Amino acid sequence: MPKEKVLVVDDDSAIRYTLTESLRGWGYEPLEASTVAAALESFDAEKPSAVLQDVNLPDGSGLDALLEYKKRQPQAIVIMITGNVQLEDTIAALRGGAYDFIGKPVRLGELQVTIRNGIEAGRLRREVRLLRREQERRFRFDQITGESPAMSEMIRLARKVAASEASSVLLLGESGTGKDLVAKAIHYESSRADQPFIAINCAAIPATLIESELFGHEKGAFTDAKGRKEGLFEQAQGGTLFLDEIGELELGLQAKLLRVLEEGSFRRVGGLKDLPLDVRVVAASNRDLKSESEAGRFRLDLYYRLSVIQIDLPPLRDRGDDVLLLAKYYLAHFNERLRKRIRGLASEVEETFRRYTWPGNVRELRNVIERVMILEDSDLITADWLPRGLVGVERAVSPPPVVAAGAAEVSTPSFQLPDEGIDLERVELSLVRQALERSGGNQTRAAELLGVSRDQLRYRLKKIEESQPEQ
Ligand SMILES: Nc1ncnc2c1ncn2[C@@H]1O[C@H](COP(=O)(O)OP(=O)(O)OP(=O)(O)O)[C@@H](O)[C@H]1O
Ligand SMILES: [Mg+2]
Repeated sequence: MPKEKVLVVDDDSAIRYTLTESLRGWGYEPLEASTVAAALESFDAEKPSAVLQDVNLPDGSGLDALLEYKKRQPQAIVIMITGNVQLEDTIAALRGGAYDFIGKPVRLGELQVTIRNGIEAGRLRREVRLLRREQERRFRFDQITGESPAMSEMIRLARKVAASEASSVLLLGESGTGKDLVAKAIHYESSRADQPFIAINCAAIPATLIESELFGHEKGAFTDAKGRKEGLFEQAQGGTLFLDEIGELELGLQAKLLRVLEEGSFRRVGGLKDLPLDVRVVAASNRDLKSESEAGRFRLDLYYRLSVIQIDLPPLRDRGDDVLLLAKYYLAHFNERLRKRIRGLASEVEETFRRYTWPGNVRELRNVIERVMILEDSDLITADWLPRGLVGVERAVSPPPVVAAGAAEVSTPSFQLPDEGIDLERVELSLVRQALERSGGNQTRAAELLGVSRDQLRYRLKKIEESQPEQ
């Protein structure tokens, strides 16, 4: 690894000598300059990791030099060194962005520690900046695949909202439609992009902890509160707080959240003061919050407040040929990840993909493609490896068989028995599978879809397991 460069700027050659020799001893590559002009030249040419800057120089002040370094490179680490430490100078230097201030005579031990910490801090600053740039690139709207009218409309609205002053945004859409992705894009394409993006999944944190998690607490607010703790709202100050699965937030906390949104301030648990807040709240849910609030499971007033700016993410089945666009996107993605060279989809697969209902939306599509690409050996994705449920549902989408005459008064749908008969167990298995797939594995929901109780569904699952242990 090349040595870190440290620039020593002082007009006293004896001091320069001591400092450069020490730096060499500590493993750095010293550079030196005796005037402001020479220092700036060296700074531009050598890009040192840190600068040791004297305050009084023949051709100008070290404070002006500091401002010049910072102008050229805001992350620069500048340590000011001076004979007579004046308070005003110290304050000016720190305001100007000096990393630290050291008085003469320089204590070498102290200087060594300061330089080491300074260079480390500079490295971290550069790293944070790089990561932030990378995030900004990764989480922009142009990374969201989709050209269908439904998607174009959604993205147009979300872009507008990102650029606006809106203090809250509600994202609604089925599971896997890309709410996380849109929440991040809204943050990284807003003027808040340089400030934190903090996400919390309201369903993942026990109700008893979530309040202090969100709002923080004062020392002694409750038995375990040993010290003051910053909440996520505070951590997100200036940026965006993403409240995922907001539908799971308990009613009491919904009231507190509403207060925060309306008043632009919050209070730590056990705190007496309202603290001002500048955070954009992006809330998301895969439930229909309107009917949730009508059913009393979500506060109507909070729903009204949040839905002022509501963005609906269309389900994948309403996005037309986006499904093929996304399939190509994931094909390229997994070709790279799995070191494969699959060219595309066989035409019958394209057809299946177009017709399938994609209850798990983009996430399901991604998983299907990954699975098929692991198994597929030919250079096209063929139907052979598609999950059976996917092909099955496609069939179910085709027009249902006509109910026999005379059965019209039967209110439940009935299926016509084909002449050649059927295998009842297999039909049952296929329906159970489809229900589970559509419900994302949620047995209660799957049971609802099949019109049986959860226990009845369990019983069937057990029966299926026993009869086909290898499946
Ligand atoms: N338009 C898109 N382009 C590319 N990838 C997408 C798109 N939409 C979703 N994805 C991908 O699909 C997966 C699911 O998306 P995401 O996690 O954002 O969904 P979600 O709506 O938050 O789902 P849930 O309600 O289950 O939390 C992610 O891997 C995401 O990167
Ligand atoms: Mg999500």
